[in-house]
Amino acid sequence: MLIQPSASKDRTLQTSEPSPAGHALKADDLLPESLHQFLACETPKAWLQWALENPATLLIDHAQCEKKAASTAMSLLYRYVDQPLLLSKMSQLAREELLHFEQVVALMEARGVAYQHLTASRYAEGLRRHLRSNDPERLIDVLIIGALIEARSCERFACLIPYLDEELAKFYRTLVKSEGRHFEDYLLLARQQTSDSIDERIAFFVAREAELITSPDTAFRFHSGVPA
Ligand SMILES: [Fe+2]
Ligand SMILES: [Fe+2]
Repeated sequence: MLIQPSASKDRTLQTSEPSPAGHALKADDLLPESLHQFLACETPKAWLQWALENPATLLIDHAQCEKKAASTAMSLLYRYVDQPLLLSKMSQLAREELLHFEQVVALMEARGVAYQHLTASRYAEGLRRHLRSNDPERLIDVLIIGALIEARSCERFACLIPYLDEELAKFYRTLVKSEGRHFEDYLLLARQQTSDSIDERIAFFVAREAELITSPDTAFRFHSGVPA
C-alpha cells in the first residue's frame, strides 16, 4: 500500500510536512539538469500532501496520463508522416507509454484499486488552449506542451518517491528515467521544426504551466494545482 500521510484531512494538520517513508530511495540523481532549468517552479508541498491523501486517485489518474501520452504520440504519427525523426521518436514513445500504462494497471489490480473514469484535470487543456492554428507553429506548440507535460511528470515522480512505499518508489524511479528522456526528445523535435529561435514561445508556455501548477485547483489529479 501507499504510505499514508502523517496528517489527516484536518485543516489544522494539512500544512504539516509529509513524512518520508522508511526507505532511502530518491530520484534527484536521475533528473536531467536541463529539466530543472526548464520548469519555472517546483511542485508545491501542498500538492504533495494532497497526493499522499489520495493514493487511489493518484494511481488511476497516473494510468490515464500514460494512456493519453501514448495517444498523443499516435496522433502525431498519423499527422506528420513526412518527418522520419518524429516518426521514430513518437513510435518508441507510444510503446513506452503503453508499457507504463500496463504497469500502473497491474499495480492497481495488486492493490485492489478499482479503475474508474475520472474527469480530466484542467492542466493539458489549460496549455492546449494557447495552440496556434497553422503548422509549423501548431506543431511547435504541441511539441513544447509535450516537453512540459513530460518534464512535470518526471519532476512529480521524483518529488513523490521519498514518501511512497518501496515498491511504488522503485517503479517511479524507472519512470523518472524514461519521462526525462521523453522531455528531451519533445524539445529536440520542437527545435527541429524551424531555423528560428523558439525560446520566446517556450518561455510563454513555461509561464502558463507554472500558473496551472501553483494556483488553486478544484480536484486532485496528477497534474493539478494546489488544493483550493
Ligand atoms: Fe510514461
Ligand atoms: Fe513519457
